[in-house]
Amino acid sequence: MSKSIGILTAGGDSPGLNAAIRGIGKAAIGIHGIDLIGFRDGFRGLMENRIIRLDEEFLSGILTAGGTVLGTSRDKPHTMNVGGKTLDMRDAMMEVYRRHHLDGLVCLGGGGTQKNALRLEEKGMNVITLPKTIDNDIALTDVSFGFDTAMAIATDALDRLHSTAHSHHRIIVVEIMGHRAGWLALGAGIAGGADVILIPEIPYNVEKIAEAIRRRSRKGKRFSIVAIAEGALSDKDAEEVRKAGDLKDKAKSKDDARKAKQALASLYAAHAGNTLRLAQQLEQLTGLESRLTILGHLQRGGTPSANDRLLASRLGTACADLIAKGQYGVMVAARGEGTAPVPLAEVAGQKKLVPPDHPWVQSARAVGTSLGD
Ligand code: F6P
Repeated sequence: MSKSIGILTAGGDSPGLNAAIRGIGKAAIGIHGIDLIGFRDGFRGLMENRIIRLDEEFLSGILTAGGTVLGTSRDKPHTMNVGGKTLDMRDAMMEVYRRHHLDGLVCLGGGGTQKNALRLEEKGMNVITLPKTIDNDIALTDVSFGFDTAMAIATDALDRLHSTAHSHHRIIVVEIMGHRAGWLALGAGIAGGADVILIPEIPYNVEKIAEAIRRRSRKGKRFSIVAIAEGALSDKDAEEVRKAGDLKDKAKSKDDARKAKQALASLYAAHAGNTLRLAQQLEQLTGLESRLTILGHLQRGGTPSANDRLLASRLGTACADLIAKGQYGVMVAARGEGTAPVPLAEVAGQKKLVPPDHPWVQSARAVGTSLGD
């Protein structure tokens, strides 16, 4: 009897998702004779048994499309809002999985999805995952698909903002996505020649940024581009977050840990929008007019870059090979030119942040970019 596999995409959409679905699907059907169904809108579609049959015709023509043809959501299997109540829906998902006689489920997602897939594996489901996120913060993979496209979009924005900042002698602060990791802001900041790059891993000091901008003015460069990751924090705010994080790590009971986690999340939420405050502070400290540009979801939209299509295709076809061999409980990681299966238990709950001495950071400093520290 041929194998049957389910696929879903979960978390924020990311360029390359359709290329990955196509890669898994074409190799699974064409080489291994595996049947495929897709679940719509992430884990919610699995719970609600909303399916799409993924045949060769469906998989044709989707390589270059942005978004995900399956739809996505941020629903979590163990805490899902159902009729206004937060419920653990893992058993209901197991039931749908069994009803379709599935041999396995492929989950395409970011850090949260790796954790959620592990939660289903612990219930007895055969799961296998692929790393997708524009944030590039998934542990144990060289890179995740979506990152390259988002970095190109952010770089293009920095290029365009240069000419208007230059013409008006302004500071333009550009907020770049990345959640709590700085890869996107750092990569795009270097590629787009930002004068200041601020990332969550290196807390910034406003006065030091202002001084870097004043130094540029003294040299006759009366404009500056500040690329700031959405999760970047001032040194004072970072200290508050560090203390809240310590409380969470030291929590003695599950309840204390939950409360500390909530406190930390509210603290992060309170700092969202800091980029506007920073732009205003820099205007006051330097005397240069300033503007804020938030790139937001533009960075996730549209057609994937060639690199993302290639990466998603090779991760997808490698995934189909692992399914054919019956290897589950792993994320298919990118390793150099190849791929490697990494145990989900080792990936889940880990975050790949920018080491403060990373070669990209060193390179940014070497060309005279201020990191705000
Ligand atoms: O994880 C991808 C990401 O785009 C982050 O960079 C950003 O913080 C978040 O998702 C935005 O989430 P949403 O699309 O739910 O607003």
